[in-house]
Amino acid sequence: MSSTGPVLTTDSRIAVEALRAGKLVAIPTETVYGLGVDAANPEAMARLYAAKGRPANHPVIVHLADRVQLRDWVAEVPEDAWRLAEAFWPGPLTLILPKTAHVLDAVTGGQPTVGLRVPNHPLTLDVLRAFGSGVAAPSANRFGKLSPTRPEHVLDALGHRVDVILDGGPCRVGLESTIVSFADAKHPMILRPGMITAAQIAQVLGRPVNYPDDDSAAMHSAPGTLPAHYAPKVPVELVDAATLQERITDCYEQGMRIGALVLQPFPDYSESHLSVIIAPEQAEAYAEQLYASLWELDRAGCERIFVETVPDTDEWKAVLDRLNRAAQSFRPDQPLYAIQENR
Ligand code: TXA
Ligand code: MG
Repeated sequence: MSSTGPVLTTDSRIAVEALRAGKLVAIPTETVYGLGVDAANPEAMARLYAAKGRPANHPVIVHLADRVQLRDWVAEVPEDAWRLAEAFWPGPLTLILPKTAHVLDAVTGGQPTVGLRVPNHPLTLDVLRAFGSGVAAPSANRFGKLSPTRPEHVLDALGHRVDVILDGGPCRVGLESTIVSFADAKHPMILRPGMITAAQIAQVLGRPVNYPDDDSAAMHSAPGTLPAHYAPKVPVELVDAATLQERITDCYEQGMRIGALVLQPFPDYSESHLSVIIAPEQAEAYAEQLYASLWELDRAGCERIFVETVPDTDEWKAVLDRLNRAAQSFRPDQPLYAIQENR
């Protein structure tokens, strides 16, 4: 860590050298920026947890250059996991698999499994190939906050806590990877929805793959899937189009500065009190922009962000999941101080 702040570069060699030196390197992926360290270096892992402000029992995903490297990290790769890796890597899919003995507890949170993925970003694939081993990388945000999809988000969230930011431009997918757990090899489960849908996974495996019940053991094994994740600093209210106008009028009359992320153009109030972003109507384009839009409304000094809810279908599932989480810490019946205390 330097007092002058992180090095911002597009040179993958600088990133590789920093990883070898045990430093923290923000890496672009197609989903979100990751905060990467050498997954085999215990001191670097400790610095990673400190930089994120993350509890020590939260496992992180190890990023690989190629699926053949799975053999270094996984005791036994079930055939169905190979199929998914072949179909979707490099891409926005994480596989949870039984770990080999040498995988650090700091990586797995002490669990018998390890999360792995081959991300699809040319710069980061260059880094991973040259580095030659696994790079542990949670999303490059402080624990429980919005994930970064632009280099400036990383700088804003982590500042001097990160040593190098590898600038790969905006993330193409924009939401974190779909996580499929093979902790029970016979019954794979989707622990976190992403833009690779349950239907796409089922098609490759030739059978349906389920989501665990909210209170199941599988859910508790992925602590990053706690309800209040992915929250911006400002309270987010998720409302349908019919109540949107009414809620905004209420807050507007109290003199609040409001942000709105909506699917349809919106009647204007006074410019100084309302920031509106009209989001794309297609799930993929919506996902790509979601975190950047919430970030922008957060930074615009809004005291409340209203988000028009999206369809409850398979293709929107990951978007709706993140919106529900962003809105989790806000309840209209709580006074504002209680909301802030809960964050
Ligand atoms: O798209 C992504 O997955 C991004 C990019 C950077 O690759 N990474 C990401 O990492 O979202 P993170 O740490 O923010 O979220 C990882 C999730 C957490 O919910 C964690 O609990 C879960 O993966 N996870 C990791 N290893 C696990 C394991 N062995 N068992 C269960 N869950 C695991
Ligand atoms: Mg995260």
